[in-house]
Amino acid sequence: MTSEPCSFVSHLECSATGEHYEAGRLHALSRSGKPLLVRYRLDEIERAFPREALRERAWSMWRYRELLPLPRAAEVVSLGETVTPIVAAPRVARAAGGGELLIKQEGMLPTGSFKARGQAVAISMARALGVKAAVIPTAGNAGAAMAAYCSRAGIESHVLCPDDTPQTIVRQAALQGASVYLVNGLLDECGKLAGALARERGWFDLSTLKEPYRIEGKKTMGFELAEQLGWELPDVIFYPTGGGTGYIGMWKAFDEMESLGWIGRKRPRMVCVQSSGCAPLVRAWREGQSHARRWDEVETYASGFKAPATIGDFLVLDILRASEGFGITVSDEEIVAAQLDMGRAEGILLCPEGAGCFAAWRKAIAAGQLRGDERTLVFDTASGLKYPMPAAGIAVDKSVGLASA
Ligand SMILES: Cc1ncc(COP(=O)(O)O)c(C=O)c1O
Repeated sequence: MTSEPCSFVSHLECSATGEHYEAGRLHALSRSGKPLLVRYRLDEIERAFPREALRERAWSMWRYRELLPLPRAAEVVSLGETVTPIVAAPRVARAAGGGELLIKQEGMLPTGSFKARGQAVAISMARALGVKAAVIPTAGNAGAAMAAYCSRAGIESHVLCPDDTPQTIVRQAALQGASVYLVNGLLDECGKLAGALARERGWFDLSTLKEPYRIEGKKTMGFELAEQLGWELPDVIFYPTGGGTGYIGMWKAFDEMESLGWIGRKRPRMVCVQSSGCAPLVRAWREGQSHARRWDEVETYASGFKAPATIGDFLVLDILRASEGFGITVSDEEIVAAQLDMGRAEGILLCPEGAGCFAAWRKAIAAGQLRGDERTLVFDTASGLKYPMPAAGIAVDKSVGLASA
């Protein structure tokens, strides 16, 4: 199905071959089985949308609408997406002997995670293009976000997640209107089932990177951080990488902003953080490979890290090398310690994946991979409230008081 022309989209392009695809349509992978990337008429955007125009706009990801793929007349499907705060963490930075540490708190978005960005754009496109039912394989947060935006848009939603996905997130997706299926397999196995269901039942498949518009939503992380930091990108970005949509999206945002003259040529070193119990991309980077082998024995409690394979592997690895970044892994023990230290020192409750990034940042400092004068931005991709927390609280006998504790 097609819609009226998009404002500034010229075409979509296969990320591997460069082959062109028509704008204003629903798309899946390219003919060569690779992700599609949306391309814009940036010269027209440069004239129509100077950076200064942002001053007048609402503090929301939709302030960059010209750089998003929605058809001109389409209404966005919105749940109130704010620009997420960037908060400094000076005490933990000092304790680690590192440079400035900034945390972008994505848990402030609707549905409590950064997955809202991708789904807000993908579901807005899906509704504009006539989708009636959608399916997604997910480590949790993308499913919860899809459920919410589908319900908002009047689209039926089906979520397939591994059966060890945190229960808060599973229940969130169900309460927000999805049919949720718990699969006794890993994320890519949920993906195979989702693909088969999409073919059999005509559901639209919103799998990570198999649908091109989620990247466009994630791209707004890159626009936002640039604008929030006065159009000066940080020296280093730590990103918890599963499928890699945000990683790829941010890099695309940096390129688009440079073409528009909004930023210069400087790029952050992009650090790919994964769990030592599931690190296909970091392993491929260490081995000098351009594609990543599947990680067969997934073992971590941080659900967002449980992506044994991603079809965007070559794109993440290209960015990692082009930015002179690095791959780094963290154990569950390091994640738990990082979460506790950040909570106690700064009052910030990181999600496990965000805590993984903070743990990785501390390790990188200790290993001499970062300089003391470098400004680092760490992505805290979800609210820590969505995950199981260690038991706490000291029992008190009301007739005795704290002496009984
Ligand atoms: C909280 C959190 N952080 C990070 C990730 C990984 O994100 P991406 O697939 O964009 O690499 C996920 C994915 O499920 C997640 O839920």
